[in-house]
Amino acid sequence: MSIKQLLDHNKNWAAEQNSRDPDYFNRLSKLQAPDYLWIGCSDSRVPANVITGLAPGEVFVHRNVANLVHPGDINLLSVLEYAVDALQVKHIIVCGHYGCGGIRAAVDGDQHGIIDHWLQPIRDIAEQNAGVLASFEDEEARQNRLCELTIEAQVQSLARTPIIRAARTRGFDIQIHGWVYGLSNGLLHDLHCCSGEHKHK
Ligand code: CO
Repeated sequence: MSIKQLLDHNKNWAAEQNSRDPDYFNRLSKLQAPDYLWIGCSDSRVPANVITGLAPGEVFVHRNVANLVHPGDINLLSVLEYAVDALQVKHIIVCGHYGCGGIRAAVDGDQHGIIDHWLQPIRDIAEQNAGVLASFEDEEARQNRLCELTIEAQVQSLARTPIIRAARTRGFDIQIHGWVYGLSNGLLHDLHCCSGEHKHK
């Protein structure tokens, strides 16, 4: 698809939205009040809005390679602080996906450049869970399990951030969920590693 086609598609999309709901852009331009913060992988096949059926305005999104929560990542922390303190999202979803290139690159033993630094937490998780992971004979199954373990660790890492701790101390019940997405079937799977008090769903 050419760049010009993208701009043409956009014109058509805006015109369609307008004809369906003439106040649509006016309304959205004044306010965003999403209930969800999505922390997902940059992978082009896992678009938050599309796979959850959420419309523009309904989910605040941060994506990076392998959906990692580095405690010193100023980009993620800026997004997190705004989502929690200003937007007051009720749920944070950490969503990884099977077949993640970031997970594969973390453990394939090759050198890839800067990304090897970024992916270090995945190798740490692989080392901490070496026994469990060694029990998988199939490489794909082993990487899928590492993918799930990584998502669970990011949920815990988020819960330990001063931003989330402070919000909870203020009595704000924010729930953090760990989900994994299957590229081969389009389905989201809840890993049931939620952090929060489950006061609301
Ligand atoms: Co990925």
